[in-house]
Amino acid sequence: MTEGSKSLFIKTYGCQMNVYDSERMADALEPLGYDAAASADDADVIILNTCHIREKAAEKVYSELGRIRLLKQRRAERGQRTIVAVAGCVAQAEGEEMVRRAPVVDLVFGPQTYHRLPDFVLRIENGEAGLVDTDFPAEDKFSRLRQPSRAQLATRGPTAFLTVQEGCDKFCTFCVVPYTRGAEFSRPVGRIVSEARNLAEAGVREVTLLGQNVNAYHGEGPDGRPSSLGGLIGALSRIDGIERIRYTTSHPRDMDDALIAAHGNNPKLMPYLHLPVQSGSDRILKAMNRKHSGSDYRRIVERIRHVRPDIALSSDFIVGFPGETDGDFHATLEIVRDIDYAQAYSFKYSPRPGTPAAERDTQVEEHVKSERLAALQSELTAQQTAFNRKCIGRRLSVLLERPGKRSGQLVGRSPYLQAVHIIAGSSRIGDIVEVEITGATANSLSAEPCVENNAKQAGNRPLTPAEVIL
Ligand code: SAH
Ligand code: SF4
Ligand code: F3S
Repeated sequence: MTEGSKSLFIKTYGCQMNVYDSERMADALEPLGYDAAASADDADVIILNTCHIREKAAEKVYSELGRIRLLKQRRAERGQRTIVAVAGCVAQAEGEEMVRRAPVVDLVFGPQTYHRLPDFVLRIENGEAGLVDTDFPAEDKFSRLRQPSRAQLATRGPTAFLTVQEGCDKFCTFCVVPYTRGAEFSRPVGRIVSEARNLAEAGVREVTLLGQNVNAYHGEGPDGRPSSLGGLIGALSRIDGIERIRYTTSHPRDMDDALIAAHGNNPKLMPYLHLPVQSGSDRILKAMNRKHSGSDYRRIVERIRHVRPDIALSSDFIVGFPGETDGDFHATLEIVRDIDYAQAYSFKYSPRPGTPAAERDTQVEEHVKSERLAALQSELTAQQTAFNRKCIGRRLSVLLERPGKRSGQLVGRSPYLQAVHIIAGSSRIGDIVEVEITGATANSLSAEPCVENNAKQAGNRPLTPAEVIL
């Protein structure tokens, strides 16, 4: 096998942080000669970057490993070796058990040790197998990671995720994240700014700052003192080329004054906020150990809307948490009606091994969970559709991200994170164009470019490889 001829396929499950981690894994293996494979079928290394947040996620991984076993067998019959690795939160939780249950796996490693991936791959290439590394190492993973190359970045488009904070100390009683990702950690401002500059130089125009508790960010600032997320956003907004900044996921407890103020005075900070409330019932919020009440949440939303009235709000909800009564569920519907969301995610409570709520003997029956989820989702979909419809006739700026399904069509995002479809004309991926919204469904908008404002955009930037094939 010659250098550069080896291929890598990463399948990513779960949250955006896993997307970021998968990109860093690809960057880490680039110097060993691994290029992206189009599918798992012809990859020399297959990595499943997994999520453990709900039951089915782990089951999906095991059934995927069943398919990969056959694929590995077929390749072996042709004399080809396949390295199979499982990364991410299921890997962290299962550890050795994973190798026992699925012997096809050569390597299991957790979210905090993927900077060691090149070493592991070399060891497996040299004949080792069944390696497991679920350490929470003392060394700083981020400082050991490779920055992506220009070639790598050119394939990734004009938006990028950037992890600024990782882990969680909050221990909500339903959640595995504090166990799989470990204690809370914030990267220093200087490192994040230099990573963002590198992205901007490669044509990235929007960064989404990631953290399991991103607004608990308290990384070291240039003066040696901890910086808040508001301060970090200020520093990033001074980078030429970065036009849009987002962050996710926030905890209501950590929405501090500086961050709320940034929504009012930083034009690069997009008017969209994912602020999970989980439940509208104070009794359930307490049992969840959320450390905020429904009225705390309403007050925070009021303060944000005061400085940024058009902000699009999003949330996560769990229905059927142990002990949840009809009354508790109605309190959730009530908070949804009061807040009026632009978008939201909702889930049936899923007992996770090792978490306190899983031990409770007040588990809610499956059919009740299903009924509550359907009722909640119908309310949320109605709100989302109404939010989108209200945009018809408005002029919005759209960052064009990728080709659409139809010829000549491009898809981008509005400031409110809605997907917007336009007929491209002279616009290209990476342009921020002004459009007039002409149609809306529950999930996306359609629009026409406002020609007079966009003429200045065209032709001021080289084409990326993704555009050349258009
Ligand atoms: N850090 C974020 C959420 C991370 S997990 C926060 O604090 O809000 C993403 C979402 O998955 C959670 O907001 C929650 O709604 C959902 N979730 C987490 N554990 C769950 C479980 N055991 N069952 C169902 N949904 C769960
Ligand atoms: Fe999980 Fe709660 Fe931490 Fe969010 S704040 S990651 S829900 S423990
Ligand atoms: Fe899933 Fe781990 Fe993210 S459990 S949601 S991949 S932090």
